Amino acid sequence: IPVDPFDLVIFGGTGDLAIGKILPALFRRWRAGQIPEDARVIGAARADLDDDSYRALVAGALAPEVGAGGDLDGFLGILEYRRIDVGEAAGWPDLAARLAGSGDRVQAFYFSVAPGLYGALAERLQAHGLAGAGTRVVVEKPFGSDLASARTLNRDLAAHFDEGQIYRIDHYLGKETVQNLMAVRFGNMLFEPLWNSQYVDHIQITVAETVGVGGRGAYYDGAGAMRDMVQNHLMQLLCLIAMEPPARFAPDELRDEKLKVIRALDPVLPHHIVRGQYEQEGDGYRAAVGNPRSRTESYIALKTHISNWRWAGTPFYLRTGKRLVARSSVINVMFKDAPHSIFGAEAGRHANVLSIRLQPNEGITLKVTIKEPGPGGMRLVDVPLDMSFAEALAAEDHDRPDAYERLIMDVIRGNQTLFMRGDEVEAAWAWTDPIIAGWEARGDVPKPYDNGSTGPGDAELLMQRDGRRWQGIKP
Ligand code: BG6
Repeated sequence: IPVDPFDLVIFGGTGDLAIGKILPALFRRWRAGQIPEDARVIGAARADLDDDSYRALVAGALAPEVGAGGDLDGFLGILEYRRIDVGEAAGWPDLAARLAGSGDRVQAFYFSVAPGLYGALAERLQAHGLAGAGTRVVVEKPFGSDLASARTLNRDLAAHFDEGQIYRIDHYLGKETVQNLMAVRFGNMLFEPLWNSQYVDHIQITVAETVGVGGRGAYYDGAGAMRDMVQNHLMQLLCLIAMEPPARFAPDELRDEKLKVIRALDPVLPHHIVRGQYEQEGDGYRAAVGNPRSRTESYIALKTHISNWRWAGTPFYLRTGKRLVARSSVINVMFKDAPHSIFGAEAGRHANVLSIRLQPNEGITLKVTIKEPGPGGMRLVDVPLDMSFAEALAAEDHDRPDAYERLIMDVIRGNQTLFMRGDEVEAAWAWTDPIIAGWEARGDVPKPYDNGSTGPGDAELLMQRDGRRWQGIKP
């Protein structure tokens, strides 16, 4: 279903995010027929370009996407460019004039720039009459680097916009399986009655990457895995797994429940967290970021608890890292053993595991115990009840948008359900700040781990001490 005509201005329109993610996402939605012909997408940046040279730049970047014989012209036709420097007055009156008189069209401004510029951008929009009630602004992570800076950003935005106009992106919330997680939990009778500490032994959340820090060393070395991944992506997954059922699938209902989870998180004890840094002759983390003494972590494993009635006593183990053995994001809900085995000790111990695979091979698997086929008596084996989304849905040729496509269209439609609210982001920082402060106070040095491994050995110990094991990291 096409959306209504809209104007979308992308500040930082020549940057990596715009060229690599935002514009390809818009192009795919265009190709899917969702973007009307009189929509306008305006790239704004400091580079000395005009409409034509900007279109050429975007066309170059989209070439692999378009494929042979594909048509890009229609999409390029809705693109424009404005030369704008946040710090200078030039360009703004022209942008304002271009956007004036468009009636009740949705006008969205994507702040694809350093967070330090959010306040100044918001001010400029206001000064040029572009911050009306119909305006929406989109901001990306990192949303601050600690609680204080996140508060400042929230305050700067709140000076010009209502919370209902601010779309804070966490692209993990736009992933298909992440939403499926909610569908599975709240669309079935089967799982929710067991979804608590009485039946769940523990929960594992793994986001493993094979990529290193690449060209983002300058940003990453100042951030590390805690700020880059745990405070946002893993935290959001944790919230969706652990939250109470919201009364409705609506923005504030959902975000209220997520906020309660974050606020109920216990502080993490120093010996419940393992930091790692990938290391390899010539190709290690320190070389990648150009900082031979860096103490920034590219890997985190931690144990935390949620202090509420549902989860008291069920640990949540989180881990994420770069340069690991496989790219694999999965949530494993590890159920308890049956209370008594009627099959005797030789049948072994069996427990159900619900695996929610985010990527790759999205899908959900439930490990169940059955009788081993054949005449060997009552021997038990675990087999997967597998639901692979790709297979289950392929027949119906579902046109499945990726995370950015979905989230950008949600901005245009005015649906904030999959975006983070300001108080959520602050609560997440309030939980991570003391952990990071502890490392700094102790001069903590991350443990080295080999490129292509499963992370530092201490992460295994974290589990072993509790008599548990991580599920394997499989592609
Ligand atoms: C980003 C992080 O937010 O998420 C990156 O800054 C990380 O460091 C990326 O690589 C992972 O996203 P995805 O969608 O590839 O899992």
